[in-house]
Amino acid sequence: MLEIINKAENTHDLEKSELVALLSYNEFDEEIFKAADRVRKKYVGDEVHLRGLIEFTNICKRNCLYCGLRRDNKNLSRYRLTEEEIINFASKAVSYGYKTLVLQGGEDDYFTKERLINILKEIKKLDVAVTLSIGERPYEEYKAFKEAGGDRFLIRIETTDKNLYEDLDPGMSHDERKRCLKDLKELGYEVGTGSLVGLPNQTIDSLAEDILFFKSIDADMVGIGPFIPNEDTPLSKEAGGTFDMARKVMALTRLLLPDSNIPATTAMETLNKNGRLLALQSGANVVMPNVTEGEYRKLYALYPGKICTGDTPAHCRGCITGKIKSINRTIGEDKGFRKSHR
Ligand code: 5AD
Ligand code: SF4
Ligand code: FES
Repeated sequence: MLEIINKAENTHDLEKSELVALLSYNEFDEEIFKAADRVRKKYVGDEVHLRGLIEFTNICKRNCLYCGLRRDNKNLSRYRLTEEEIINFASKAVSYGYKTLVLQGGEDDYFTKERLINILKEIKKLDVAVTLSIGERPYEEYKAFKEAGGDRFLIRIETTDKNLYEDLDPGMSHDERKRCLKDLKELGYEVGTGSLVGLPNQTIDSLAEDILFFKSIDADMVGIGPFIPNEDTPLSKEAGGTFDMARKVMALTRLLLPDSNIPATTAMETLNKNGRLLALQSGANVVMPNVTEGEYRKLYALYPGKICTGDTPAHCRGCITGKIKSINRTIGEDKGFRKSHR
């Protein structure tokens, strides 16, 4: 096992069988985390990049079985920020020091190409990098958003197990998901993907495939989080993922993609009160604090127990800065593009 960890640390390449071995046994987890922490330091340094997250609509036309925003969930009041609210949250976030903003939402067709282009152009006047996280759209729209100033795009593959994906995301196609990722790369976005850990019927084998997939598409960003069962979904009675397993998949991703940007995800902190700091010490170098204000926060209910739902953007900014400094790391001062892309 130690030999495999060494190999990963030095060559950033592992066979699937080696990943399966590391994922299957827990005795060497601390060694994996330490190796991922060294690789993180060597390739992307001690800076932690903060991305301000604006959750601009919780309306979604999809029906993913794991997600609280799914269209069949009638137990959630829905909201859609106005263009003015979005720009207002964006400028406040910039005043707190954010250099990157993430526009995240359900797949909400109210936000047409034209509306999103207007919003993007306004936000780009603030001199920030903008990341879109709005799901599947045609090539032509991705292209228009790029031309309007979009810098990055997040779209998780969720799982590389095609059958599992298509079971959990009814009406969606795994090939179409991959088409999106390919188009986005081709258009010159920094592309982020990622997966859920602990989905029902997900195998160790498929988690190993997930990590190899991130490497095969040379993902610029990879967000990994535990699946947390939501009361208001068909998967409410499932066991869900564990913090330790999500942390290990994330650490192995760092070992194989040494210079990618990897967030310490909010879902990790939901399962462990020190989750983000532990993630930052086992491979992660990004945090995405929420900059949405007021009542909207708790309505963006992907899963239960989401952190920070009662807090303000100003509070979270101070909170996370303090935490990051407490582990002797610094806050990134620039827009935080992938190092190899500068
Ligand atoms: N638990 C954890 N993460 C979830 N997501 C959706 N539902 C859940 C859940 N129950 C994640 C998906 C999606 C991202 C925005 O939120 O991976 O890509
Ligand atoms: Fe919609 Fe995304 Fe939730 Fe699926 S995971 S229901 S696409 S918000
Ligand atoms: Fe929101 Fe700590 S980051 S309260």
